Amino acid sequence: MKAGEVMTILDNALRIGKGVTRYGKVAAYIPELAKKDKNKLGICLYTIDGDRFEVGNTEDRFTIQSIAKVMALCLALETFGAGFVFDHVGVEPSGEAFNSLVELDNRSNRPFNPMINSGAITVASMLEGRYSIEEMQKYMQDVCEDPEIAIDEAVFESEMATCARNKAIAYLLKSKQIIDNDVEESVTFYTQMCAMSVTARNLATFGLLLANDGIQLSTGKRLISSQTVRMVQTIMLTCGMYDGSGEFALKTGIPTKSGVGGGLLSVAQKKMGIGIYGPSLDEKGNCIAGCELLGYISEAFHLHIFDQTEWKVE
Ligand code: DON
Repeated sequence: MKAGEVMTILDNALRIGKGVTRYGKVAAYIPELAKKDKNKLGICLYTIDGDRFEVGNTEDRFTIQSIAKVMALCLALETFGAGFVFDHVGVEPSGEAFNSLVELDNRSNRPFNPMINSGAITVASMLEGRYSIEEMQKYMQDVCEDPEIAIDEAVFESEMATCARNKAIAYLLKSKQIIDNDVEESVTFYTQMCAMSVTARNLATFGLLLANDGIQLSTGKRLISSQTVRMVQTIMLTCGMYDGSGEFALKTGIPTKSGVGGGLLSVAQKKMGIGIYGPSLDEKGNCIAGCELLGYISEAFHLHIFDQTEWKVE
């Protein structure tokens, strides 16, 4: 495919996304996020051959929110090993909302997976015992190749003032001896990592790192092991979009993680990383425009994990 055709498809994707933006809502349960402009939309696509394409609001900063769960899982797997991590957090889709605690209370002694809040707070608690938040920030800066990534203090304070539910989840985890560390410190660390401020470009860069088996394209350096990349992508595909994961996988076939800040991180294996920003969310808390336009992009560029058609930019 010629670069010009890619740009035409991206322009169409932007139009498709904008067509559904009005049907979504910005996250309001974190008051600071309710102030965001729901009409913003940016798409960034970085290929494994070094081509970069982008349209719309790709330079806007927004908080990474639940997409930080992917970085946290990578770091936890590399630090503690899969055996230890998956002893504490499962790998099954929960079929419940991202902030649910019913399945943890009624059906399991482990959070169902690391993409929902209960699982991510467990992972954050492990990391909090080993790393400072500055080290976590540096990890995010490295994998996204952006030294400017920092905590958005306004969003952090806003979420800390309204995170009773996450604290309830963390106390439940503590009562089940799933986390050992201090509950308040674990929730603070988790909320700080969710409040890191990124761009769609940062997400495309991180997506490309995963698409390239953990090897940074710009330096040739391995930042994440193949085994971790494989596990993380599997969990993104099965659990990354919460109780919408099955439908999303069917439609796009692209391992993706959403955040209520409006971000989407997508990984098309051996092809490209995709970063999207659009703060208008569907009822499951996923970027409404991104979900719609990724179906179109997946079809146009043959990105579905089970699509065997060759695709390259000439
Ligand atoms: O814990 C929370 O509720 C937020 N910090 C993150 C939730 C989130 O991003 C859900 N994703 N779509």
